[in-house]
Amino acid sequence: VTSHIRDRAITIRTARLDDAARLAELSATLGYPVSAEVMATRLKAVLAQSSAVVLLAELASGLVIGWIHGVEQELLESDRRCEIVGLVVDAEYRGNGTGRRLVLATEEWARARGLGQMAVRSNVVRLESHPFYERLGYRKVKTQHAYRKALLATA
Ligand SMILES: CC(C)(COP(=O)(O)OP(=O)(O)OC[C@H]1O[C@@H](n2cnc3c(N)ncnc32)[C@H](O)[C@@H]1OP(=O)(O)O)[C@@H](O)C(=O)NCCC(=O)NCCS
Repeated sequence: VTSHIRDRAITIRTARLDDAARLAELSATLGYPVSAEVMATRLKAVLAQSSAVVLLAELASGLVIGWIHGVEQELLESDRRCEIVGLVVDAEYRGNGTGRRLVLATEEWARARGLGQMAVRSNVVRLESHPFYERLGYRKVKTQHAYRKALLATA
């Protein structure tokens, strides 16, 4: 289905507010269902942050087939770095170099800001992402447990 797609045919560009509906669709395939309206609200907030970047991969037809969200992190315990906090490529278009291009473009953004390191946390169940990041030169440094706690409104 996808072998005809060559790198050339894919454009990487920054996201705009009117991309929200398609970003929401792709997010749902990742297991994070979200309405177009909620995504639009989130995207608007993120696009307003100078410390964040949202890039899209777009076919010549205009179809968006992937997105990545990177953030500059200012941490007390380490040097400033860029963390990839969201990345998805449409399942029908994987294996064509799109994920690589999205990550490399985010690395360029980070380098231009003077950041010296990339970071990403990948769910252990996302098996395809592990060889993907390794192919791109990322090395596993630790395995973590993720904790959450719901905050209930006080009466
Ligand atoms: C991970 C993901 C973004 C990869 O996107 P993609 O466009 O298919 O990746 P690419 O085609 O750019 O692959 C880049 C390299 O990774 C390798 N790779 C990608 N998927 C792989 C897989 N499932 N198994 C082994 N290697 C893989 C490719 O072989 C390629 O290496 P090469 O060019 O040196 O041969 C995509 O599979 C995806 O969206 N998965 C679901 C969401 C997810 O896991 N996101 C990451 C959350 S942290």
